[in-house]
Amino acid sequence: MTADLEFAEAASGLAPIALRAAATLRMADHIAAGHDTVLSLAERTGTDPDLLSRVLRFLACRGVFAEPRPGTYALTHLSLTLLEGHPSGLCDWLDASGAGARMDAAVGDLLGALRSGEPSYPRLHGRPFYEDLALQSSGPAFDSLRHTHAESYVSDLLAAYPWDQARRIVDVGGGTGVLVEALMRTHNTLRTVLLDLPGAVAAATARIAAAGFGDRFTPVSGSFFEPLPAGADVYTLVNVVHNWNDEQAAAILRRCSEAGRRDSTFIIVERLVDHADPRAITAMDLRMFLFLGGKERTAAQLRELASAAGMAYQSMVETPPGLQLLVFRKRRSWSPRVRAAKGDGSPS
Ligand SMILES: C[S@@+](CC[C@H](N)C(=O)[O-])C[C@H]1O[C@@H](n2cnc3c(N)ncnc32)[C@H](O)[C@@H]1O
Repeated sequence: MTADLEFAEAASGLAPIALRAAATLRMADHIAAGHDTVLSLAERTGTDPDLLSRVLRFLACRGVFAEPRPGTYALTHLSLTLLEGHPSGLCDWLDASGAGARMDAAVGDLLGALRSGEPSYPRLHGRPFYEDLALQSSGPAFDSLRHTHAESYVSDLLAAYPWDQARRIVDVGGGTGVLVEALMRTHNTLRTVLLDLPGAVAAATARIAAAGFGDRFTPVSGSFFEPLPAGADVYTLVNVVHNWNDEQAAAILRRCSEAGRRDSTFIIVERLVDHADPRAITAMDLRMFLFLGGKERTAAQLRELASAAGMAYQSMVETPPGLQLLVFRKRRSWSPRVRAAKGDGSPS
């Protein structure tokens, strides 16, 4: 596509909307099941046949579907990713009834955020991001979307660090426990603690209990703005810090540092502004602000935050999906009590 065409596409704004309609109606699955004519697709999806044919044509000339014969549709490599169960989880992210749509609404309020300087999500939905998503009762839930996403990179995290040097790991904001479960499977004496909000921890506990790790797994429902389980060998924060503004991120890192022993390791896993594809990272940077007031950071910015929380930088490892693993140890001269006197920066 030429730059002019790409600009015209961006300005029209229709493609993302048409894609979401197709995903919500599970159009790719219906086509895969052999309902490939406009009439049978309209019948299956309860939609208007004439308008549906126009939407499908719109998507077909953008490569989302193919039209091998007039009025008959087939999947392409793009629409294969819209099938239910695809590892990307894309049809769930784009589903108009779920968490993704609540996030899309916040993205649609970029102008409001620009004018107010405030994140859109809480203004639009009346509650902070994670509080609101915990109450959502229809459509694909945030925790399950995140679960699928975490599965897509967990093996790269396993390969990027010598986890077998640790006996006990606390995954802070560890979601539904994809990382801790994979760690326990791969290293059969490793003990793990999952710290997250109640919904994510409940989902993890149900699944991990069934897998038979016994007392090697400890679920902890709580907040990382409060004191964390103490004395672990490793504390991990995977895709957590970028959710939060500098003050909040510093508060979370301080909680980790306070909980760690003198020889604990702290591992922050994120995409970094100075190491990622600029298109992807600038999009995520805006999303983080619109949802939570968070931001994407450079390696230097993360190192500075961690240093202020009492951590000394050791090394950085890049994983194939572009996530960077930044490894820290506790800085010997740091005193948490002096810092704590300045307030912990947790959100009110
Ligand atoms: C972007 S997700 C990352 C989850 C997981 N680490 C991963 O990589 O898939 C951020 C996580 O932080 C959790 N979270 C948000 N606020 C929290 C809080 N105050 N205390 C603990 N966890 C929190 C969310 O429930 C969510 O699981």
